[in-house]
Amino acid sequence: MSEAERIIEYGKKIEEVYRLRTPRSKKIIKNGENYVPDGDMRISVWFEPYPTVMSKGDGCRLYDVDGNDYLDFSNNWTSMILGNNHPKVVEAITRQAPLGSAMAAPSESVYDWAKILCERISSVDKIRFCTSGTEGVMFAVRAARAYTGKDKILKMEGNYHGSYDIMEMQVGWRRLPRGIPKSVEKDVLVTPFNDEEAAERVIKENKDEMAAVIVEGIMGAAGMIPPENDYLKFLRQVTSENGVLLIIDEVISFRLSTGGAQQIFGVEPDLTALGKTIGGGLPVGAFGGRDDVMAVYSPKQKHPAHHAGTFVATPISVAAGIACLKEMTPGAIKKINALGVLLKKGLRGVLDGLKIKAQLKGYGSLQQIHFTHEPVFTASTAFLTQDRDVLRLFHLAMMNKGVFIPNRGFFAISTPMTEAEIHKAVNATFEVLSELKPLIREIAPQLVG
Ligand SMILES: Cc1ncc(COP(=O)(O)O)c(C=O)c1O
Repeated sequence: MSEAERIIEYGKKIEEVYRLRTPRSKKIIKNGENYVPDGDMRISVWFEPYPTVMSKGDGCRLYDVDGNDYLDFSNNWTSMILGNNHPKVVEAITRQAPLGSAMAAPSESVYDWAKILCERISSVDKIRFCTSGTEGVMFAVRAARAYTGKDKILKMEGNYHGSYDIMEMQVGWRRLPRGIPKSVEKDVLVTPFNDEEAAERVIKENKDEMAAVIVEGIMGAAGMIPPENDYLKFLRQVTSENGVLLIIDEVISFRLSTGGAQQIFGVEPDLTALGKTIGGGLPVGAFGGRDDVMAVYSPKQKHPAHHAGTFVATPISVAAGIACLKEMTPGAIKKINALGVLLKKGLRGVLDGLKIKAQLKGYGSLQQIHFTHEPVFTASTAFLTQDRDVLRLFHLAMMNKGVFIPNRGFFAISTPMTEAEIHKAVNATFEVLSELKPLIREIAPQLVG
């Protein structure tokens, strides 16, 4: 066998090890294929050869159906900031469960939940709840359109705002995913993230028809890429000057400080979309902002904008959400952000020590390795220059070492973690990349040296 063949064989071995560790997962997914297309429940958790089936989460650990345990650096795609099974959240849910989980009436507690968020996010005068981040975005966009009487929206290439049709435009490298109507292109304009010039031009050209610009606090799913050079402030200024609203999607970035990315980067948007962490692990979303803009939903208006939902702010979600927010103290957030910095330093040391030219992006408790030798600051640099085969093998090999990261390769830190878990992740990365290096040299030589 030639050196090249031997190296390719090594790649296959990683998958073999994964299969040997997870036979029950394989069986469950195989059986699931009888009822669910390819057994996939959620594209963001799917990977080849098949995803690991988890049976339990506890703190920052997950346990699969084959008895393997993992350090959970996915946090259910960043949402489980307190880890799983947090005693305060469990207690809040079990206190509420016997009192009823959903009823067609407001609970007293929902106003407490609203108060906490309005007090934390200075741009949010008024807030309303919904059942996912997707809906948070959808209702924020609706508020902007209702308020301005205009339809067009500018979004940033690669920014992920959930599964709402118009927000599926130009997520990643596809313009429109299958099933999204072409008509979306009429109302949604796209410019690259971190490109001030392009945004300014498009806003000015379309200001008479443009309701809002929507942007993530940091670009999450596309690679934990922070805004550069006061980009958010710049968007704020240009939108204000041109009569266009600014929506910041903080569904991921809210975890980075008590007031979200807008607090960190010193920006006051007109509207904010929220989700993930604010629900303590239950399915929730929210949208809030300026008093006069949020008033479009007031039932006392002659023609209010429409916002409903059978499971909006159920008392059980509210209980979990409040319990979680109370634990998201400045100290807790500072701690996990500091662990993120430690992780970044450790990963930098590994990459430099092994002479692997990958990029590290991230902010605080969210960090990511990009297997590209080119600087990453837009979605195209993140998606198009990254070596996907290396990322796939890295992800699978980390799973084999008991470090659960999403297939995108990011690390999200939760409050139960300590320096010990960070060191474990760094050591696992060192072992995996040391073993992978000959293969990387073969399939992506630009990354080595
Ligand atoms: C920035 C951002 N906005 C919106 C969403 C959609 O949230 P959900 O999956 O709860 O609908 C996501 C989900 O990952 C997200 O990352």
